[in-house]
Amino acid sequence: MSTGSKSKSKRESLKTQNVLRPAFANLLFVGSPDCVLPDASGKFFAHFLIAMANTILVGAQWGDEGKGKIIDVLTAKADIVVRSQGGNNAGHTVFHRGVKYILHLIPSGILRRGKVCVIGNGVVIEPIALLGEIDGLRKLGVTIGRNLLISDCAHLVLPYHRLLDEQRELRQGHTRIGTTKRGIGPAYGDKAARTGLRMSDLMQPIVFSKKLQAKVTENNRILQALGAKPVSFREVNESYLAAGERLRPFVGNTVVYLHRAMERGKKILFEGAQGTFLDIDHGTYPYVTSSNTTAGGACTGTGVPPHRIDRVVGVMKAYTTRVGEGALPTEDMRLTQMLHNLGREFGATTGRKRRCGWFDAVATRYARMINGIDELAITNLDGLDHLDPIRVCVAYRLNGKRLGVPPCDARQLANCEPIYAEVRGWNTPTHSARTFSQLPPAARKYVRYISQLTGAKLSMISVGPARGETIIL
Ligand code: GDP
Ligand code: IMO
Ligand code: MG
Repeated sequence: MSTGSKSKSKRESLKTQNVLRPAFANLLFVGSPDCVLPDASGKFFAHFLIAMANTILVGAQWGDEGKGKIIDVLTAKADIVVRSQGGNNAGHTVFHRGVKYILHLIPSGILRRGKVCVIGNGVVIEPIALLGEIDGLRKLGVTIGRNLLISDCAHLVLPYHRLLDEQRELRQGHTRIGTTKRGIGPAYGDKAARTGLRMSDLMQPIVFSKKLQAKVTENNRILQALGAKPVSFREVNESYLAAGERLRPFVGNTVVYLHRAMERGKKILFEGAQGTFLDIDHGTYPYVTSSNTTAGGACTGTGVPPHRIDRVVGVMKAYTTRVGEGALPTEDMRLTQMLHNLGREFGATTGRKRRCGWFDAVATRYARMINGIDELAITNLDGLDHLDPIRVCVAYRLNGKRLGVPPCDARQLANCEPIYAEVRGWNTPTHSARTFSQLPPAARKYVRYISQLTGAKLSMISVGPARGETIIL
């Protein structure tokens, strides 16, 4: 009781302080006019302060850092979990009560009761895959109803996108990207070319069919020129319209929903997909995905402005992995073999073997800079339990020069040689540690070292795939 009233009076005094600051006055009218609160002067500032708890979570490496597991842990403190980019190329794994869930399009927050999950405007949605995911989760006992919202501005992935993705990969031979073949690149390509179809089109059957007809005609010409089978307009039209009807109850303006929620003081967790070095702008282009996987993408992909973001959490493995083509400077065959022999590091979406390497501090330091990472979550520490010594890449060498940041050019990155520091291993299982002090001294030293090299505060260490196998600092 007394704590509640104390914090209430603290809030009251903060409200008063802010009311006196004219610089905030114009913020009263941000959002739709009907969002302005009756007692705007007092309540607005209180909500503004509460809304400061919004968190962006990003992958600080090449994807598969364990974002799903960390999101599941952080969701306990959030009200809303929102995806802002990517599509069903993502595979986020959550283990709970012995059940393994792999989320592709639906935010990992769906597994916790009372949380709302939003698929934002920046995501590309394959409606039939999304329905498959909804049905699969329901079979596992997960409730999906009013707790899922889908942006009407999100673009659609269509069958011709998947076929084009496949054809491009086939034809590129050894220069292929190694995509997930989910049609992500071609779908974002149409979005950028301003010829894409969106959820809002699917909600209007006549409009959808007309636009689809033109797109199928255009893409069938390309597919035929590539020697691939054309798609049937009738089949796509029927199956997508049927899927659209099932998705209709979830579709709406998620921007307004998120803003109203923030005004009510709700806390939003932005679930990043892929990782920093798969970002279309900042990643190892062209071996990247087609969206902005870095923190900025969370704002453009949801319509939540940057000043409503309070912190950025970067997730990184205690080592490095990558699936698909492109340079991985610290790749190490022995480490890869060791992890695969343990049954670890197989892709959650495609089942492909992930390439593995030592921790790359050049990459994570750059990721910290691009994303503005405040806090770090280190996952898979237990993957290094039986390695001694452990290597950490502290710089690259390219043409005799020492580099502290990754070069922009893919070929130059492929020619970078890692410069390693060696640290002692701990040769002890860590999966049962629940506090920092329960970790072996060498493991503590290692996580401190890699967070210092990355340059952000360490806030979480994961020592196993389950929710409980987490050390919160
Ligand atoms: P995401 O795409 O970033 O969500 O990561 P994925 O789910 O694709 O891959 C991460 C893998 O690591 C999954 O199999 C997780 O269950 C697993 N995982 C996450 N954290 C830990 C950990 O601390 N220890 C172990 N052993 N596995 C983990
Ligand atoms: P999560 O969210 C790891 C990789 C693909 C390929 C490149 C382009 O689970 O971390 P795309 O199909 O997107 O056009 O493929 O990006 N890739 C991922 N790698 N984790 C992911 O997602 C990925 N999503 C795409 O392997 O190299
Ligand atoms: Mg994954």
